[in-house]
Amino acid sequence: MKKLIAGNWKMNGSLTANEALLLALGQGLERVPAGSLHCDVAVCVPAPYLAQVQALKASQPALSGIELGAQDVSAHDAGAYTGEVSAAMLKDLGCRYVIVGHSERRQYHFETDALVAEKAGAVLASGMTPIVCIGETLIEREAGHTEEVIKRQLAAVISANGHRISEIVLAYEPVWAIGTGRSASPPQAQAVHAVLRAGLEAVTDLFARVKILYGGSMNAANAASLLAQPDIDGGLIGGASLKAHDFLTIIAAAQV
Ligand code: PGA
Repeated sequence: MKKLIAGNWKMNGSLTANEALLLALGQGLERVPAGSLHCDVAVCVPAPYLAQVQALKASQPALSGIELGAQDVSAHDAGAYTGEVSAAMLKDLGCRYVIVGHSERRQYHFETDALVAEKAGAVLASGMTPIVCIGETLIEREAGHTEEVIKRQLAAVISANGHRISEIVLAYEPVWAIGTGRSASPPQAQAVHAVLRAGLEAVTDLFARVKILYGGSMNAANAASLLAQPDIDGGLIGGASLKAHDFLTIIAAAQV
């Protein structure tokens, strides 16, 4: 299946820095001969910059291959929810993907499995693709609870969105690997991805089509070996997505 390389800029960037980064990405992608980009590429940018990136995409043909994504969404449709951004608004701004349930949202904003599942439903209902993040903490891994935790997180998404589960993208992001420079090893990541694939197989015939991304210190040096694993269908990349050269190297690693 076609891999997906999605950058998660987190709370980084400025009008000037975003433009420079995107133009550098565009220049890199222009060097890939037409029609031979064999992976999907997305950037999930801070909400205030969605319109900027949408406009840049419209004016720069080299950026047409980069899809736009958001980093979070409200579970509500509209109304008195000060500060929140609805799925319809993200769709309006040209988003194709929305990250939901990132561990930083779960940890700092107390998002529960049920809320994350509801947000995934709101994204699907607006015609976009949720990138649903799941993953264990270091304490959970060391206690031998990795499988139990990721199965619980996946079950919540399935119970709320089972009828459309084949339309989501999953991202396995071990919390201990995020922003730490300590990536899961390819076999460690593959083992969890295989559990997730089996969990999907139990509920949908289309299980093989669901993209399961790995995220957590994926970088230019380790991307190829992670992406070579049979159940790793792409990457959700934080720090390395802010450097055009590194992000382009990861995209190149996903081409094979
Ligand atoms: P990282 O972040 O690549 O900086 O570890 C990944 C993520 O949080 O999505």
